[in-house]
Amino acid sequence: MQEKILILDFGGQYNQLIARRVRECRVYCELHSYTTPLEAIRAFGPSGIIFTGGPNSVYVPGAPQVDPALFTLGVPILGICYGCQLMAHQLGGRVSPAQKGTAREYGKTVTHYDTTCRLFAGLPEEDVSWMSHGDYISEVPQGFRLCAHSGACPSVAICDEARGFYGVQFHPEVSHTAHGTDMLRAFLYDICGLSGTWTMGSYKDAAIAQLREKIGGGRVLLALSGGVDSSVCAALLAEAVGAQLTCVFVDHGLLRRNEGDEVEAAFARWNVRLIRVNAQQRFLKRLAGAVEPEVKRKRIGEEFIRVFEEEGKKIGSVDYLAQGTIYPDVIESGAGDASVIKSHHNVGGLPDFVNFREIVEPLRLLFKDEVRALGCELGLPEYLVSRQPFPGPGLAIRVLGEVTEEKLAMLREADAIFRAEVAASGANASQYFAVLTNAHTVGVMGDGRTYGCVCALRAVTTDDFMTADWTRLPYEVLDRASNRIVNEVPGINRVVYDITAKPPGTVEWE
Ligand code: XMP
Repeated sequence: MQEKILILDFGGQYNQLIARRVRECRVYCELHSYTTPLEAIRAFGPSGIIFTGGPNSVYVPGAPQVDPALFTLGVPILGICYGCQLMAHQLGGRVSPAQKGTAREYGKTVTHYDTTCRLFAGLPEEDVSWMSHGDYISEVPQGFRLCAHSGACPSVAICDEARGFYGVQFHPEVSHTAHGTDMLRAFLYDICGLSGTWTMGSYKDAAIAQLREKIGGGRVLLALSGGVDSSVCAALLAEAVGAQLTCVFVDHGLLRRNEGDEVEAAFARWNVRLIRVNAQQRFLKRLAGAVEPEVKRKRIGEEFIRVFEEEGKKIGSVDYLAQGTIYPDVIESGAGDASVIKSHHNVGGLPDFVNFREIVEPLRLLFKDEVRALGCELGLPEYLVSRQPFPGPGLAIRVLGEVTEEKLAMLREADAIFRAEVAASGANASQYFAVLTNAHTVGVMGDGRTYGCVCALRAVTTDDFMTADWTRLPYEVLDRASNRIVNEVPGINRVVYDITAKPPGTVEWE
């Protein structure tokens, strides 16, 4: 990769978003702590550097700073919010607390741009930007000039075009800043001279070459869950070192309809050893009598480890254990933490009974949507790469109360119908599924009385799954799903729709 941007992290809340925007401009970037040593930065060889925002004030003793030599590398720098103030502060300007009623800004702000500055060339002279700052640049450093202002703040942007230094007080990465992406593109393309050559195809080729070099003739083991991350990780390794890869896929019988077969079929085109452990009966036995959600979760987790352990023992030792860790698991706030990149092992409990030399995490630099794009590049089917989140304990926490084979069968059918109807409608929901409640109600079908189960439908809209709203699905979609479920799934005679937000509800019912 020739074109690279380094983003130095000062702990701001939108930092991952900056990285995503840069990659959307087809430029590869990495987010690292502001404490990254100069030598490491030189070795990384960035074509440009972005300083992020952060929660501190630059004039407070001990506030995050960069090595002053960074400004002599001859590399263009864009400072955002705290990063802008830091540049001013370290290059001889002054940053002051905003006076009451002036300079402090939060939210959408009308901003005036000097379009002779290369960062704003071709953009409107007046537009809205997104601000969030309590300090402002009260004295512009030598060599810089002001190039944007707002009603409250005279120094919304500064630039020293000769040295390629730019600072903006607002957040161009946030969608509320009109033309924010155009400004980032101007920095990347016009100021850093990049052309946007980073594509998932080129990333795939480079990743495969790297994996081949690293793994050599070694053996690799991966726990395949059927989720997006582990599936794409498996496909990448299959493409790179197929014959040396063993995937263990534990089918605990708590998967959605056809899921196990779909996962198996998706990997048929590669020459990998896929061990599908059909452990349905073991899991059902372990779940017998378990009613409490946490007890169910615990038993499933324990049984999973046990099954994996048995398979691991059969395999003996491997050289590498592969994990589908992705970038958001890897990035931690750079503020105050020198070792910014920490590995979060996202396979529930590392299998220490398998002997391995090293862990490989080939997706650790990719965001979720990039992982999906890579999956498509690798030829994984659409239904696998665009999969919704699915809980590890699977349908066991969507069958309320005790889990039985019959209840699982009912839920699987109802869930497949609901998901098919929502998908066909094109409605926009982040996650949607059916739940089999343990309530029974009276109904009538044909000429007879029925006494059957109540099925609940749940669809949520969310960005982060920490909070969520129930999705306003069109009545026709709910109507079709309800009719089909009651008619096609014996044992269910009533359907209800969950209209609870999170909080106070959770996404899952258990
Ligand atoms: P909740 O129900 O906590 O769900 O609002 C938030 C997101 O997490 C998923 N979820 C789980 N995922 N193991 C998992 O791997 C679990 O035990 C679990 N419980 C909930 C849920 O599907 C939603 O996407």
